[in-house]
Amino acid sequence: MTGADRTAPGVDPIADGAALGAHLVTRGGRATVVTLKIDGRTIRTDEEASVLEAARDAGIHIPTLCHHPALDPFGACRLCIVELERGGRKGHVASCVTPVQEGAVVRTNTRSVRLIRRTLLDLLLARCPDIEILQELAAEYGVTEPSYPVEDEICFLCGLCVRACREIVGIEAIGFTERGAESKVVPPFSQPSSRCIGCGTCTTVCPARTLELSAVDSVGSMHGESGDSRTVKCRVCDEHYMNR
Ligand code: SF4
Ligand code: FES
Repeated sequence: MTGADRTAPGVDPIADGAALGAHLVTRGGRATVVTLKIDGRTIRTDEEASVLEAARDAGIHIPTLCHHPALDPFGACRLCIVELERGGRKGHVASCVTPVQEGAVVRTNTRSVRLIRRTLLDLLLARCPDIEILQELAAEYGVTEPSYPVEDEICFLCGLCVRACREIVGIEAIGFTERGAESKVVPPFSQPSSRCIGCGTCTTVCPARTLELSAVDSVGSMHGESGDSRTVKCRVCDEHYMNR
């Protein structure tokens, strides 16, 4: 069966000007295509794409905080929530961890979706009131003052730094400690990590811009709690780049 044959009954990809997502790939010369509707548009995409990827390929905006295209989906922030209907069943799902499904109908901006996102952003802003990206997103959903008790955390536990260190750099110099809202991102045993190479990938992916990698007089300091560690100086540019 070809991808075209698999179009769901009642869904006409051509009539709606079907969007062909960047995730549409072929295997063994045959397209593995799933057809679904997102916000009334017919989308054809690879069966391995997530709902978030399919929507973004079609230029449909869904807000995210813990998603990065280079990393495995994590499903931590739930901000990418959408309404998904299929086979007579309807519910809310996190679009970054939900694969596309043949014949599904997805709505990304319903009243209930906006309400859930607003509540999540209200909670996150209460936890991290000074983080710019949260202020901006919360304002988009009408939250300027949190309605929950305000804390002064600077990390909203999206996990991007931890996953980037593990999945991109290939080491696990940082990880989560504690549980739930008490979680923190720290090096093992909250001690300077001998595994850290000071690449700064964690600082680059952090949407909160919370992480800092600094080198002062050849002493590197990472992630606030890592303490100090010696760094190696590049002989060409004179910058300190690697923890010893
Ligand atoms: S430090 Fe930044 S990247 Fe890491 S979990 Fe916290 S907010 Fe996310
Ligand atoms: S982006 Fe989907 S749960 Fe965070």
